[in-house]
Amino acid sequence: MYAVAPAPRLQGRNLLRVSDVTAEELSAILRLAAYLKGRGLNEQLALLRGKTLAMLFEKPSLRTRVSFEVAMTQLGGHVVFAQGNEFSIGSRETPEDAARVLSRYAHAIVIRTHTHEPLARFAEAATVPVINGLSAAAHPCQAIADMLTIEESFGTLAGLCVAYVGDARNNVAISLAEAAVLAGATVHFGAPNSHRPSESFLAWLKRLGKPHGGSARAFANPVRAVRGADVVYTDVWTSMGEEALAERNRAVLAPYRVDKALFAHAAPHAIFMHCLPAHRGEEVTDEVIEGTRSVVFTQAENRMHAQKALLAALLTDLRGIPI
Ligand code: CP
Ligand code: NVA
Repeated sequence: MYAVAPAPRLQGRNLLRVSDVTAEELSAILRLAAYLKGRGLNEQLALLRGKTLAMLFEKPSLRTRVSFEVAMTQLGGHVVFAQGNEFSIGSRETPEDAARVLSRYAHAIVIRTHTHEPLARFAEAATVPVINGLSAAAHPCQAIADMLTIEESFGTLAGLCVAYVGDARNNVAISLAEAAVLAGATVHFGAPNSHRPSESFLAWLKRLGKPHGGSARAFANPVRAVRGADVVYTDVWTSMGEEALAERNRAVLAPYRVDKALFAHAAPHAIFMHCLPAHRGEEVTDEVIEGTRSVVFTQAENRMHAQKALLAALLTDLRGIPI
């Protein structure tokens, strides 16, 4: 007997932030991702046959671009990509006009943009699903792949401690934390005041996680953040578009580098995660990222599996998929 959990509620929806989906929907996407990861390519080809995904990127990308393109191809659909001068949201026309035009060509749209607000306007006006492929405020596709990776390591998210150290205000930290508390994990941020999540975001995480047993705390001391954690996660100290702050970030975030000494405070079974690209020697040492507990390349692979699940859930009714 097949249970088709996410189908009625996700088809046609947008994903701009992790919190656009419920805990149950997130869990259904993860089940679908694990299911698709375990199937042969010949079983997947029909899922998105005849569908076109438009991908519009204002910033560079390796993983997001290629994993979406391969995911779409392996599911039988195809991708149209525009970057840089060809697409900058709101520059040649309003986000609303661009959204209405593109909705007539494509079955779904992935956008990577600097500021989040024009993306939200674009999504509001679009009549096909819009997926955030990274904005300054969120990176939900990364977080879904991260949850898949943690589940593969531990079997569950519930009850785990996920420590994020470094720039705890950035897109990856925000989406990771939302996904982790929705899945019932405890999030520890380790960051100086300049990079600590706002009190309002911490309060939001508390509300979001409470029904699921998830919670979040911020520590100035990186050792306290990491102590006993099951997952230690970091990202670049300076995100795309914030290059003017790079020197300041290097100075204040140096004590938050994930090196062997800091990682040793985590649980003995802890895994190391990074969304990549990594700046080796800055936020993480070679020794940690190349260590036996590092899962960064599985994380990168899981972008593709997670996005297959997301695309299938947003674009189809998932009829016949046993999840
Ligand atoms: N992790 C990630 O989003 O990588 P790209 O910037 O290469 O897409
Ligand atoms: N925080 C980083 C993530 C890159 C995938 C950035 O926005 O540049």
